[in-house]
Amino acid sequence: MAKPSVYVTRQVPQAGIDMLRDVCEVAVWEGELPVPREILMEKVSDTDGLYCLLTERIDAELLDAAPRLRVVSNMAVGYNNIDVEACTARGIPVGNTPGVLTGTTADCAFALLMAAARRIVEGADYVRAGKWKTWGPMLLMGSDVHGATLGIVGFGRIGQAVARRAQGFAMRVLYHDTYVTEADPALGATQVDLDTLLAESDFVSLHVPLTEETYHLIGQEELRQCKPTAVLVNTSRGEVVDADALYQALHEGQIAYAALDVTEPEPLPADHRLLTLPNCIVVPHIASASVATRTKMAVMAAENLLVGLKGERLPNCVNPEVQP
Ligand code: DGY
Repeated sequence: MAKPSVYVTRQVPQAGIDMLRDVCEVAVWEGELPVPREILMEKVSDTDGLYCLLTERIDAELLDAAPRLRVVSNMAVGYNNIDVEACTARGIPVGNTPGVLTGTTADCAFALLMAAARRIVEGADYVRAGKWKTWGPMLLMGSDVHGATLGIVGFGRIGQAVARRAQGFAMRVLYHDTYVTEADPALGATQVDLDTLLAESDFVSLHVPLTEETYHLIGQEELRQCKPTAVLVNTSRGEVVDADALYQALHEGQIAYAALDVTEPEPLPADHRLLTLPNCIVVPHIASASVATRTKMAVMAAENLLVGLKGERLPNCVNPEVQP
């Protein structure tokens, strides 16, 4: 019997590819940049399984060009790049990779929070620029993390993992989540409405998925409610924050700092005005990028794909209603 054919939209950790190669005909887009749309459209025309990333838009047009497609496996926990409804309508299960990246993403959120609080990137730039002439009693003064109030917007797996890290810094933790109304008391976090969270937090960290409801959740109004000393950390999706409003807020001192792993747009062009601000740290969507975690994600996505090709239930499926 012919092996099923699988298209992988970028080079991913080898462990994932090896699992696929054992049982499938595998083609991999080898480019450093995402596969161009027209090539992807052509590739899916005779593909049984699609192994994709958050850089590919999987929509009705693409699915219509893929008559044999039996499973879509996204190597990410977020799946806002996929029109899940369109997949469901065609009976195609969509897999994602929850859980394995929780700790790594929370570590990165905390690293960004601390880097902003203690002005680490500004300090490193200062030294590299040859500006360090002496110890300065007022040099690069930042804000304390320990004992401060952390507001976590979105209290799912990653938000809760950030709360756990905050305990080590004796922080007061507030959270807001429309769906999670009760959290493990051991996390010592207090549920509040978004207005209270914004008004009382020294640090605001975002951990919501991107949906119609969360698009520009943090805009001009919300930023106005923050303390002028507040730090905003975003490791969720760029579009959760209105980038223009954020620029104004940072520029005018409505908030003190932002540390962003994700941006609107993404990638952020090198001449984007957010990058002209000394009080804004931007890194290139690397929150889950540890070797161990990206390997686990690659393997998990391969497992989802292989099981889907067999017509069985995906271990992690975002549209379980299509599952057997
Ligand atoms: C995800 O998985 O959704 C992240 O944004 C990339 O790891």
